[in-house]
Amino acid sequence: TTEFGWFEEEEEGYAEKYRGAVDSLKIENGVLRRYLTYFAALTRPDNIVLIRGDELEGIISSLVSEGKLIRLNGKTYPNSYLYRSDPSDVARSEKNTYICTPEREDAGPTNNWMNPADALARFRDLARGAYSGKTMYVVPYILGPEESPFAETGVEITDNPYVVANMMMITRSGKRALDRIGESTRFVLGVHVTGSLNPEERYIMHLPEDDMILSVNTAYGGNALLSKKCHALRIASVHAKRDGWMAEHMMAIEVVRPDGRAFGITGAFPSASGKTNLSMIMPPSDMEGWKAYLVSDDIAWMHSVNGSLYAINPEYGFFGVAPGTNERTNPNALDAIRHDTIFTNVALTDSGEPWWEGLGPRPPHLIDWQGRDCNGCEQAAHPNSRFTTPILNYRQLSAKYSDPRGLKVDAMLFGGRRSTLVPLVREARNWAQGVLFGAMLRAETTAAITGKVGVVRQDPMAMIAFCGYNMADYFSHWLRMGSMVKDRPRIYYVNWFRKDSKGEFIWPGFGENMRVIEWITGRVSGEITKGIETPIGILPEVDDIRAPGVSRERLEEILSVDRDGWLRELDEVEAFFSQFGDRFPVELRKEIERMREGLENW
Ligand code: GTP
Ligand code: MN
Ligand code: MN
Repeated sequence: TTEFGWFEEEEEGYAEKYRGAVDSLKIENGVLRRYLTYFAALTRPDNIVLIRGDELEGIISSLVSEGKLIRLNGKTYPNSYLYRSDPSDVARSEKNTYICTPEREDAGPTNNWMNPADALARFRDLARGAYSGKTMYVVPYILGPEESPFAETGVEITDNPYVVANMMMITRSGKRALDRIGESTRFVLGVHVTGSLNPEERYIMHLPEDDMILSVNTAYGGNALLSKKCHALRIASVHAKRDGWMAEHMMAIEVVRPDGRAFGITGAFPSASGKTNLSMIMPPSDMEGWKAYLVSDDIAWMHSVNGSLYAINPEYGFFGVAPGTNERTNPNALDAIRHDTIFTNVALTDSGEPWWEGLGPRPPHLIDWQGRDCNGCEQAAHPNSRFTTPILNYRQLSAKYSDPRGLKVDAMLFGGRRSTLVPLVREARNWAQGVLFGAMLRAETTAAITGKVGVVRQDPMAMIAFCGYNMADYFSHWLRMGSMVKDRPRIYYVNWFRKDSKGEFIWPGFGENMRVIEWITGRVSGEITKGIETPIGILPEVDDIRAPGVSRERLEEILSVDRDGWLRELDEVEAFFSQFGDRFPVELRKEIERMREGLENW
């Protein structure tokens, strides 16, 4: 593990100065005390606050009195607030995100890499004295149901009360977490420094061998709420590979049919491509008796138990995309975010309510996400504006959410935004082809990450930005999980985003996606035995998708196989895979060859 080099701070007496303050927190864990002393000596805060669980209200009221949070209309949005981030700090920043392993190959060709010692040295340069004049907050948290053997613990250190408030909403934090950590050394430490917010000096660095995350010069979402993408995905994915489970960028729902039969479904879609929306799905009104209950909207940790796969949600709250959320697309979300919510980078109406593109008719006057008067401005809310809401606000929460074992998974979906080529739904012939479906995931980019929007990029399992190790090994791990689990979930690839020649979505999406899930439950239960076998998987017969709102002609269009288009797709996918060299699993290579041969003879 990484050499810490306490010495400069110790020689200058800083470690000595902070030891008393750390001791007075009465933390029994010696390793944690040592870390806190070290990082306090480095960052030099005025005082240290340990989050025990009842501080949220106080933190929010001081943010309000400092003008950093704006209290929203208390009649329509009780106990809810607006936060405006720095305009240069509005999305996850992948170019500044690093996996820090001794060997570059272990981070793999798809991650930025840095040596752990260099990462620590860089962090020390940028963080030295960065908390002076400020409070150092210590936020212990649990990821997963408290009683679950699959839960993990972590501690985030930060100088940012907005980060603390969010962490207290999206994780189970405070004393219960500290109690669970106890004397154990198996917790993940995240150190966050708000710093200058200068994007040129921004670093989000992961040291898997030390279970450590170092984040500096950012305060936004996935860059700063270190429990989420940094711990629950990047670091956890390393744990999952080591210990034989899966940490995935997946939503998870329990679907109950009118006959009472329940199905566990997880789904991986790239950022801003529909996980939160699908997890909150409201079945269309003619699908009487169909119910969907939420287990997770963003991350699923899946373990093999008695030969089946079970999913838990490590999180305790939502950090969801606001734009596009409205009464038609996602009434369940609107209900949940009506109280006790922090909105980040949305617009503000004259009556003190949040507003974003796609919520409804635009009010005549708005303040935009940067606090400017918005007279006919093009974009009032930032396209990646978000809501932070406690998961317990959600009215259709599954009982499996708090089950220590979680939700039994019967089907897994992959999907992404593709305006052409990719059919509405197809089923993998077997696990290996399903892994190929995931590895082949390509999607048009969105505003959730800094960079160009609308270009197709390869995003295997929606994990390109979240896999904490070499992705070739990740594919092998997926294949290995298939032999560990006897009762393997079926794997599907869906695409809600096909467009016609006028640029309009062909598939109505949102609640209507339940019609695709209906077909999936029919397949999983063995009730629908017919399907169209193609080289790219099993497609539904057009009559087996019950979609009154879509003409038969348009349905046929999105359930067809464009042979030449798929051959081109395979070329591009193989070009992407070639970067992994010999580390790429042979079994997947065989699946690609099978698909190619099938298409050539199609
Ligand atoms: P992250 O939280 O960034 O990981 O993204 P996510 O996968 O949770 O994405 P989310 O559900 O928030 O969806 C993002 C955008 O996709 C929103 O603007 C939605 O309105 C839109 N969207 C979601 N589902 C559908 C759908 O079925 N059809 C269409 N056309 N748009 C959708
Ligand atoms: Mn996400
Ligand atoms: Mn989401």
